[in-house]
Amino acid sequence: MRKKILAANWKMNMTVGESDAFLDTFLMEVGEEPRVDIVIIPPFTALPRVSERLSDVQNIKLGAQNMHWEKPGAYTGEISSHHLRELFVRYVVLGHSERRNYFSETDAIVNKKVAAALEATLKPIVCIGETLAERDGGRVEKVLEMQLRGSLDGLTAKDLAEIIIAYEPVWAIGTGRTATPEQAQSAHAFIRETLATLWDRATADKVRIQYGGSVKPGNTTDLMRQPDIDGALVGGASLDPRGFAEIVKHTAALSE
Ligand code: PGA
Repeated sequence: MRKKILAANWKMNMTVGESDAFLDTFLMEVGEEPRVDIVIIPPFTALPRVSERLSDVQNIKLGAQNMHWEKPGAYTGEISSHHLRELFVRYVVLGHSERRNYFSETDAIVNKKVAAALEATLKPIVCIGETLAERDGGRVEKVLEMQLRGSLDGLTAKDLAEIIIAYEPVWAIGTGRTATPEQAQSAHAFIRETLATLWDRATADKVRIQYGGSVKPGNTTDLMRQPDIDGALVGGASLDPRGFAEIVKHTAALSE
């Protein structure tokens, strides 16, 4: 059984003060929920504060939204794995479609970041997903396979055990248009099959695959019920502590 993992991707939102207020409410609503793994992914500026607040909370881990692949050095404006480790960050989102679209991140760049994250014992949340044009053109599987091969190139089966994949169809991100549970399940099953082909069945069966794209309290249960959906990467709906707490509770209830 793969334990579900829910991550709050705050993107370029939430000041330090707002992060504090979020945690006041969220921790009260959710407390120590042992049935699911929870990851809070604030902007870099709020990492120290959120890290401090979570230091005595067992089941909620800290994530970052991006990192550079190099060790500390002359890379103005960038953050390295060393900076993240110092703040007790455990997960790092890599290859989010917004990074791919607005900052020209390619699979090759994502691959370098994944390797650097693993070397620093950070767990990468590797994002993949097709655009609407690719879906309409019948190229979903081709695109997903290419992104998996490119982003995860050179990784061992042991590395795979440290990785989370997030399937995020680009047309569903921030649009209010969620993939149906069937569409998402079919993509997730394909991703798992591809991992089994590229590595092996046992390795593929252990990898957790999150769905992302307009997840909200009202559609959580149907999505999380699918056999190959192992959690969610939540953007917009994760900014509301009560809404994200509901997503956690709906998901936890499925493990009863
Ligand atoms: P959304 O974003 O939930 O706002 O669609 C998801 C994501 O981009 O991770």
